[in-house]
Amino acid sequence: MTSFVLNNNPIRLDVDLDMPLLWVIRDILQLTGTKYGCGEGLCGACTVLLDQKAIFSCMISIAQVEGKQVTTIEGLANRESLHPVQQAWIAENVSQCGYCQSGQIMSAVSLLSETPQPDEQQINAAMSKNLCRCGSYQRIKKAIRRVVTHEVGQQRIIQNVATTGTLKQSDET
Ligand code: FES
Ligand code: FES
Repeated sequence: MTSFVLNNNPIRLDVDLDMPLLWVIRDILQLTGTKYGCGEGLCGACTVLLDQKAIFSCMISIAQVEGKQVTTIEGLANRESLHPVQQAWIAENVSQCGYCQSGQIMSAVSLLSETPQPDEQQINAAMSKNLCRCGSYQRIKKAIRRVVTHEVGQQRIIQNVATTGTLKQSDET
């Protein structure tokens, strides 16, 4: 038995404690916004927030999230609006096939909650583990810079990481 908080909802599960978090999120809890890419910590498609920091959910067992807060892409928006990072992604038309994008967004949210005014190097470092086979890297950077230059968005990011909403986005693959 394990318990943790997912997108502000308390979860108790009776599963194999060695099961990777990604499997639990997608196959058991049916939140498919978080993607399976490589399953080996090499692509970033499975990125979620664990206690507000970006981690690869394929590389962490469910036992390691006991008592912690997990946020997935489905937990970013609130009932009124999308998260500022999601809004910036739309404004910059970042997504191509979309497969990597929930992971990219979660890494960007983690970066901006820790470093609200990142410089180019910090952006590159924070986003370097998220791969995009469609080559959306320049648009991703533009979207992050768009959030950085909008003060309201920054405040919302900090609030949002503390109090994530429950609006479910469908991005089934
Ligand atoms: S699926 Fe987790 S890093 Fe690729
Ligand atoms: S948008 Fe296609 S893999 Fe990134």
